[in-house]
Amino acid sequence: MISQIRKDAFGDLADLHARCFPRGWSSMELARLAAESGVIALSAGGRRVSGFILVRVALDEAEILTLATDPARRREGVARGLLCAALKAAGRLGARTAFLEVSDTNVAAIALYQSTGFVQGGRRRAYYSDGSDALVMEKTLGE
Ligand SMILES: CC(C)(COP(=O)(O)OP(=O)(O)OC[C@H]1O[C@@H](n2cnc3c(N)ncnc32)[C@H](O)[C@@H]1OP(=O)(O)O)[C@@H](O)C(=O)NCCC(=O)NCCS
Repeated sequence: MISQIRKDAFGDLADLHARCFPRGWSSMELARLAAESGVIALSAGGRRVSGFILVRVALDEAEILTLATDPARRREGVARGLLCAALKAAGRLGARTAFLEVSDTNVAAIALYQSTGFVQGGRRRAYYSDGSDALVMEKTLGE
């Protein structure tokens, strides 16, 4: 089940985020971001959240800000479902293209994005604190 993130879910989402990324975001940071205008905030799994996504739409572009699946729920299609739902919502808000940055060492995320039609645009050298490059990946929406 994919739905809008509930206001009381940000604590759980911050825990999930901390288990998925080297630098976690606090529940306050997540709540503030989700409340910004043009931000699509979706979670999967009902009360027991299995994953979530934040996407910001500005004019005709959508940026994937974060996407994470509970390590215990990986390879069940959670992230793909969230990504597809968020990109559809972004299209309804007027986005024509979507982009994101991902570490070139993040094999799982790169495979996910490629399997949903993203292609590599640019590369930002040594962008992350571990020294890895960021790949900029892009997708034209509505294709
Ligand atoms: C990347 C991430 C969000 C994928 O979540 P997920 O719910 O397990 O992904 P899905 O089950 O929807 O996978 C969809 C497709 O992505 C690809 N994929 C996902 N995980 C993969 C892995 N570990 N290795 C190879 N391909 C993978 C596959 O093509 C998969 O389809 P398939 O299972 O039918 O083969 C998850 O691994 C995660 O939270 N990682 C840590 C946070 C992160 O890196 N987020 C992205 C930041 S840009």
